[in-house]
Amino acid sequence: MYVSDCVSVNERGHLTIGNYDTCELAKKFGTPLYAFDENEIRKNLREFKKSIDDEYAGNGLVVYASKAFCCKEMVRICNEEGTGIDVVSGGELYTAMSVDFPAENIVFHGNNKTYDELVMAVDYGVGRIIVDNLTELETLDKIAKEKGKTMGVMLRIKPGIDAHTHSFIKTGQIDSKFGFALETGEAMEGIKAALAMENINLRGLHCHIGSQIFDLDPFELAATVMLDLFKQVKDETGTELGELNLGGGFGIKYLKSDRPRPYSDYMRKVSAAVNSYSAELGLKTPFILIEPGRSVVGAAGLTLYTVGCVKDIPDVRTYVSVDGGMCDNPRYALYQSSYEVICANKASEKRDWTVTVAGKCCESGDLIQEWTRIQPVEPGDILAVLSTGAYNYSMASNYNRIPRLPVVFVKNGTAREVIKRETYAQLCECDV
Ligand code: LLP
Repeated sequence: MYVSDCVSVNERGHLTIGNYDTCELAKKFGTPLYAFDENEIRKNLREFKKSIDDEYAGNGLVVYASKAFCCKEMVRICNEEGTGIDVVSGGELYTAMSVDFPAENIVFHGNNKTYDELVMAVDYGVGRIIVDNLTELETLDKIAKEKGKTMGVMLRIKPGIDAHTHSFIKTGQIDSKFGFALETGEAMEGIKAALAMENINLRGLHCHIGSQIFDLDPFELAATVMLDLFKQVKDETGTELGELNLGGGFGIKYLKSDRPRPYSDYMRKVSAAVNSYSAELGLKTPFILIEPGRSVVGAAGLTLYTVGCVKDIPDVRTYVSVDGGMCDNPRYALYQSSYEVICANKASEKRDWTVTVAGKCCESGDLIQEWTRIQPVEPGDILAVLSTGAYNYSMASNYNRIPRLPVVFVKNGTAREVIKRETYAQLCECDV
């Protein structure tokens, strides 16, 4: 009925998430508020894990891209479900360290990791550092040598596939700040340098072709381009690399018209290509890593707001202003992202009113959705914006010194805060 499977309507005509009445959540925890269905998150992680078991005989690792949504409890859940996590900053790594996440199952990304971040990763013994460039490789080797350690490394390669064009193309992605380019020979140079370093253990190669992708073909093409490189490395250096990290990017449903394919379809198609093409090239099927972010948490979360004022501008449009905005969801302002908006306390009524949902920030572009159809609402009503689990909390800001929202996880009839609402005092904590 809705874009998110964990959302429904109860006998009171209220919207529910994980069978919990969202109006009760609003009452109990206040608004604005992020709410997630924990079972949905766990189900998604298990589905990715199962597809590695089914398609690669378990010879792989699901690594949750924590940039989509990161907090201690999320990282604990990944550990409980037996997945790894992908971190891209000292802050995300610190979060993982603070819950004793197994270092071996952490991959550390970033195109410009600082010296201190690399030291932190070496000290914790992060299993795979995804090295972006030669400077980073040399710095990491030096730090590892000083500390008497050998660090597991994968190199991030630009496979030259642009999955975001209408019909994807296989060149032209050389213009990216991330990774080693294939076309210029930079990738092979980096690989040979890494193989020659004493304190670097080159475990394999990584690629990531983009985000919110529905088409399966670019993923398949990226895998084969990477295997060609594995073969070239074997021919030129005699070393057969053991691991291939295929990144994340699987699309989710934001609007009813979105048609994401089940992850099992993705895994089946890509694994068939990986298994057969490896054999054709005379290579062993590598250990496979995947890095889903949005597809784990996106549709498992929603945001609840209270309507403050309704401003009807005749012949122009109607603004419905809510108590949050671009500070908790900057994605419409940044990418004109589509969302489904529902009045949580009138969920069984018809959505036949076209409005613009605006936030409370001092900025005209502070909009959550334009020209969207919702139930007729009035001040005090609760609005739910669906599928906001990914890249909302993690991209939130304190613009206008608005405190960050709490996050509630709903599970089997109970709701608990996993992130508390930020206070005004905390906003001033770093001020001198
Ligand atoms: N691995 C790497 C190396 C990545 O750069 C990303 C996302 C992922 C995995 C996870 O991709 P996902 O499965 O979530 O698509 N802020 C944007 C999304 C930026 C994605 C950045 N990288 C948004 O709100 O749509």
